[in-house]
Amino acid sequence: MVTSVHHPPGAPVPAELTAATLRQAFGAYPTGVVAIGALRGTEPVGFAASSFVSISLEPPMVAISVARTSTTWPRLAEAPVLGLSVLSRDQGGLCRRLASRGVDRFDGVTWRATPEGGVLIDDAALWLTARAGAVYDGGDHEIVLLELLTAELFSGVEPLVFHTSQFRELAPHA
Ligand SMILES: Cc1cc2nc3c(=O)[nH]c(=O)nc-3n(C[C@H](O)[C@H](O)[C@H](O)COP(=O)(O)O)c2cc1C
Repeated sequence: MVTSVHHPPGAPVPAELTAATLRQAFGAYPTGVVAIGALRGTEPVGFAASSFVSISLEPPMVAISVARTSTTWPRLAEAPVLGLSVLSRDQGGLCRRLASRGVDRFDGVTWRATPEGGVLIDDAALWLTARAGAVYDGGDHEIVLLELLTAELFSGVEPLVFHTSQFRELAPHA
């Protein structure tokens, strides 16, 4: 069984659904990246999530999918308010930092807290605040609905794009 997705353009290759193949397959779908953060006491806690997806206008809801192995999510889930920052074009390094283990993720990151303790990243493309809502089974992940409270849009700030494990930027269609 072929497990690589590297093949001549146009030639479909059947692939076994191993974890490695699935990572490659999911990585073929471009996304933005959202930093999700909240204060625990006076310290910011957070992580990067590319699984962010818009869900509902009324009531306003988005969803994320969180690995069951995440040590950060259980700490965020208890927070009264979460800050969500859609990272901007030049924030790839910051994103990696927010996904790293065993480091102070917010070292060198400029952030601010809302009065309710949501943590927002400066120079992002969009700020949202939300409350964690219903949780659904998502295999080795949990699908978490986030009920939106506020939104601040920064017009003209280009988003970071994550695709095939690389950070990229948008370009106009030729
Ligand atoms: C670009 C990118 C996107 C990510 N998206 C998610 C995601 O949607 N869900 C998730 O659970 N982890 C995601 N992660 C991993 C987390 O940021 C983090 O590394 C993970 O939660 C492990 O740390 P923790 O044990 O502190 O939670 C992503 C990492 C990167 C670099």
